[in-house]
Amino acid sequence: MRVWVLNGVNLGRLGTRQPEVYGATTYAQLVQRCTTRGAELGLEVECRQTDSEAELVGWLHQAADDAIPVVLNPAAWSHYSIAVADAVALRTADLVEVHLSNIHTREPFRHHSVVSAYATGVIAGLGVAGYDAALAYLAR
Ligand code: DQA
Repeated sequence: MRVWVLNGVNLGRLGTRQPEVYGATTYAQLVQRCTTRGAELGLEVECRQTDSEAELVGWLHQAADDAIPVVLNPAAWSHYSIAVADAVALRTADLVEVHLSNIHTREPFRHHSVVSAYATGVIAGLGVAGYDAALAYLAR
């Protein structure tokens, strides 16, 4: 089964971006981890990251057209992008929303995700292990 792991704005900076909040794992290491864990679970994982909202929306449309399950970290767009939320609402397969940090214990503007209402489920606060859990769910 194909699975896409889609990461939004600023997540390409993992490793150096506020490591006390997001951990020391680099984006390249996250890609390697998801690909390896996915293969162990029998998944063909493809990871993508973009700082362009339009590009993410395009990928979500393609995932919907091809019924590809998705692990999505919408990053800052979680909190205000109705465009990303609407694209997630189009989904035709499971989509698990993942946040590295526990958004509910952080600044109030991070407590709400406009995407969550359209996701199959949400994982927050487990760091990169949240991606493992999302992949395990999709492989069940
Ligand atoms: C994040 C949380 C968001 O609030 C933030 O804007 C991010 C990353 C997380 O993975 O914890 O960029 O989605």
